Amino acid sequence: MIVTNRITLESLLVKLPATFHEALEAINTNTLGIVFFVGNDRQLIGVFTDGDARRALLAGAALSDLITADSFYFNKSPHYLPFDCDISEIWSLLEQNLRCIPLLDASHRVVDFSTRARIRRFPVLEPDIGQQEICNVLECVTSGWISSQGRFIGEFERAFSDYLGGGHAIAVANGTVALQLGLTALGIGHGDEVIVPNFTFGASINAIIHSGAIPVLADVDLDTWTIDLDELRKLITPQTKAIMPVHIYGQPARIDEIKEIASEKGIIIIEDCAEALGATYKNRRVGLDGDCTCFSFFANKTITTGEGGMVVFKDAGMAQRARILRDHGMSPQKRYWHDYAGFNFRMTNMQAAIGVAQMGRIEELLNRKKLIFQAYDSLLSEHQVLSLPPKNNWSENSYWLYTVILNGYEGDVRDKLITQLGYRGIDARPGFYPMHQMAPYHQYGHGAYPVSSYLSANSISLPSSPGLSDEEIHHIVGIFIDELSSFTSEI
Ligand SMILES: Cc1ncc(COP(=O)(O)O)c(C=O)c1O
Repeated sequence: MIVTNRITLESLLVKLPATFHEALEAINTNTLGIVFFVGNDRQLIGVFTDGDARRALLAGAALSDLITADSFYFNKSPHYLPFDCDISEIWSLLEQNLRCIPLLDASHRVVDFSTRARIRRFPVLEPDIGQQEICNVLECVTSGWISSQGRFIGEFERAFSDYLGGGHAIAVANGTVALQLGLTALGIGHGDEVIVPNFTFGASINAIIHSGAIPVLADVDLDTWTIDLDELRKLITPQTKAIMPVHIYGQPARIDEIKEIASEKGIIIIEDCAEALGATYKNRRVGLDGDCTCFSFFANKTITTGEGGMVVFKDAGMAQRARILRDHGMSPQKRYWHDYAGFNFRMTNMQAAIGVAQMGRIEELLNRKKLIFQAYDSLLSEHQVLSLPPKNNWSENSYWLYTVILNGYEGDVRDKLITQLGYRGIDARPGFYPMHQMAPYHQYGHGAYPVSSYLSANSISLPSSPGLSDEEIHHIVGIFIDELSSFTSEI
């Protein structure tokens, strides 16, 4: 049996009547030493521990005996808390040495649980790892194929290209080195300028710097939060060798227009698609428009391999060069002969093993995330102080991380709100800081960047894990609106 440390609510519930055998089997499976006895509609009847079982068996009960709501073998007045209580209440019960607390809705139904290892809380994004992922990793570990050779690397690359509908996919250690490998393989290096949006995660710009090139920061537009085309045109110089559009928060950039500008000037495009796997642009999947496109499989991404990345090239020759560069620059024909001063950017077979299993579930993961975005949209759309994630009729978001803008709030309200939400079990995040404001990147800025500064100061990301239930989203929105209303908006 494969034991995971993910204890589900289902594994804690035992519907009465049930035999001792059934109750003990549930205790054995969930590994917590406890089950919650419930009625047909999940209403809590009582709590049964391994200690209760031991005492009952010593008193003469048999494994086949039936436990009913009237039996005296279990605790009918257990500690419990409302689903939406404060974290402090949960902690104070856990500190009394309770191992697992049922959390109930208004109808006394068990809707969640808390343990010391898992307080009821909503991380902003958590990975969804299934049994197949675990089986694949076990295969690597038990067979000894744990480094960067083994069947899963090729399988993952093929599955990825098939999903995108083409391209030459190369699996690498993470999304940042995917960008660096793409830049280097495409010949971008010392003294070349690469235009990149100012509103992005630092990895985009770091990869440019580490490839030896010079990042040139462009502001973004309010409609897409991605690179502003007028800014882009203005920043092109004879040294501009590449544009790196970033499909930030899974929102596709205006890639056709970017391609037009790039082809007029003979400029290369390297797409940063780290957050946008599954997004579409004019009904085609984002990822095959640039000379290369880079993805991340960090634990919070749409699919994960722990750490991991993919760079997908349009051109087979460039892809071959990148494969060699990924592997120390060694010639595929002559062992230990270096054609280039390369890198070790390889992905392990274990990472790819997870990736293969995740690719098998990508539609399921994306669909669930789309429903989460729709639920948030419908619950938040009436709140005028919020701008919801951008929408247009030519693209579809990847539904990576639900991020809204707070309009009309002064000062540090957004940050205070994040702190308050944290106290109530909700992990909310600020938007990315504009690159030009941070010391390592000051020198790459040209001007004020009003849009990136505005988006950054006012954006807040809410929990968006694929495992969130509709009930949990209602709960999160309830707390979010409650906390937000304690700050007055100027609007
Ligand atoms: C926009 C963007 N680019 C690049 C990366 C880098 O990916 P990784 O974390 O896999 O190196 C990330 C990931 O967090 C990202 O969000």
